[in-house]
Amino acid sequence: MPIAIQLKQIPADDNPIFFPTDSEYDWLTAKIFVRSADFNDHQLNAHLLRTHLLAEVFAVSLLRNVPMVHPLYKLLVPHTRYTLQINKLARGLLISDDGFFIKFAASGGEGCIPNFYYRDDGIKLWDIIRRFVKGVLSFYDKNDTEVQKDSALQKWISDIFEHEFLSQTGTGIPQSFTTVAEMVKFVTMVIFTCSGQHSAVNTGQFDYGGWMPNTPTTLEIPPPTEKGTTNEATMLQAFPNMGIAANGMAAMWLLSRPSYDSVPLGQYPEQHFSEETPCDLIMDFQGELQILSENITNRNKNLEVPYTYLDPKVVENSVSL
Ligand SMILES: [Fe+2]
Repeated sequence: MPIAIQLKQIPADDNPIFFPTDSEYDWLTAKIFVRSADFNDHQLNAHLLRTHLLAEVFAVSLLRNVPMVHPLYKLLVPHTRYTLQINKLARGLLISDDGFFIKFAASGGEGCIPNFYYRDDGIKLWDIIRRFVKGVLSFYDKNDTEVQKDSALQKWISDIFEHEFLSQTGTGIPQSFTTVAEMVKFVTMVIFTCSGQHSAVNTGQFDYGGWMPNTPTTLEIPPPTEKGTTNEATMLQAFPNMGIAANGMAAMWLLSRPSYDSVPLGQYPEQHFSEETPCDLIMDFQGELQILSENITNRNKNLEVPYTYLDPKVVENSVSL
């Protein structure tokens, strides 16, 4: 039995607390708003995410890895019946760009996971890099056999596997490349890591860490071990002194600036390639990056806190600072 309802997060004059003793329709309307919010949370979180999508993960792994004669397969497979089919329908009809949630539910499509610009921009950037990498590499290694015979390529990846990842297969790093697709995916990851991923975690350091209390580089007293023992004085004691705070701010400011001769992603002033095809692919790559950059700039115009760190004109070719 609800005893009080407040419909928004921040207490204010325009956010009253409704009671059963209010007018019939005030109380009823408050309850209806709660029920509508619960519909959206229930469908997307409790129902879709925590049962449907989780069941799909278990089913896919079972089908990929466990033989039909294995007791685990026999035990679990009845519990996967129709799961892939219904989830495929859900993706197509419920949570798609023109699906039920966009058309008929308050959370909409974007309401599912809104404002996650690292993901939105990162996926687009990844795809642009992947198309470029695929074009260039498969121009030289045209099929899987050529990939397998490319001794320098194979030595490169086996050295990475052996010496950087200590031959640990659990890291997911391949020991060799057997297909063009494998090679393209790995090299895309390398370029994305050196450019976009580094920009995403490097460029905003001063924006978020320049205000020392938001990102103290060190704290000067041990963490509290019981409740009710902290106050303003202990908080000030915990913060680093002015000299340490200034050095922390200076480091974050320096790291967040572009280097004085920075080269943006996709610009190749050294012109390592000379053949026509890769040079054309570089032009295409630059064109796609330019379009993504313009789209991000336009998107950011409507944001209170613009997300710029994966804008290709901000992203550098390499980890250089
Ligand atoms: Fe860095």
